[in-house]
Amino acid sequence: MKFFVDTADVAAIRELAELGIVDGVTTNPSLILKSGRDILEVTREICALVPGPVSAEVVATEAAAMIAEGRKLAALAGNIAVKVPLTWDGLKACKVLSGEGRMVNVTLCFSAAQAILAAKAGATFISPFVGRLDDVGAEGMDLIADIRKIYDNYRFTTQILVASVRSVAHVTEAAVIGADVVTAPPAVLKAMASHPLTDRGLEAFLQDWARTGQKIL
Ligand code: E4P
Repeated sequence: MKFFVDTADVAAIRELAELGIVDGVTTNPSLILKSGRDILEVTREICALVPGPVSAEVVATEAAAMIAEGRKLAALAGNIAVKVPLTWDGLKACKVLSGEGRMVNVTLCFSAAQAILAAKAGATFISPFVGRLDDVGAEGMDLIADIRKIYDNYRFTTQILVASVRSVAHVTEAAVIGADVVTAPPAVLKAMASHPLTDRGLEAFLQDWARTGQKIL
């Protein structure tokens, strides 16, 4: 399973990348706003930090303009994945941009039917949003399981990129289903290291160590 980090915060990406756990990065217009940075400048910087796919999202809504924006974003670095929304025009843009040999991440996917169309249009990644489905009372992970089954049935090579991840449970459930990639905010990736029994065990070991009166260094 690959881990992408879902942020445009360069310092956070650098910290995780140094640990070797970052296979790619996803951004979106809201994350660019949060970063306070210029999209072209920050995306170039992220691409230099992380060799894997870096998703940069178009903001046009008509296919021709999406394609033009996608080409401009892709020209920033060799590891850009152009992110297009799962609309009819987004699918047209996906077909053209993927036909040019560019990586395309089709985002804002909320149904298996949408995921089938994205695969047919040549998407490199499909991004189903599990957290936002959970927010409206649906079971986001059921969609991941359905897409996994469908893609395996027909040997679609589009990678399932689980997005809108809000918890460690989302990450482990996606791994059990066999999703290809999870993109998670830095806080969720860091929370994966925590377990209350680890904290309790370490505290007991350190108390016993103090009682030995020994030092290692
Ligand atoms: C990633 O590609 C998505 O843009 C992101 O995961 C959305 O997450 P959110 O639903 O927490 O905004």
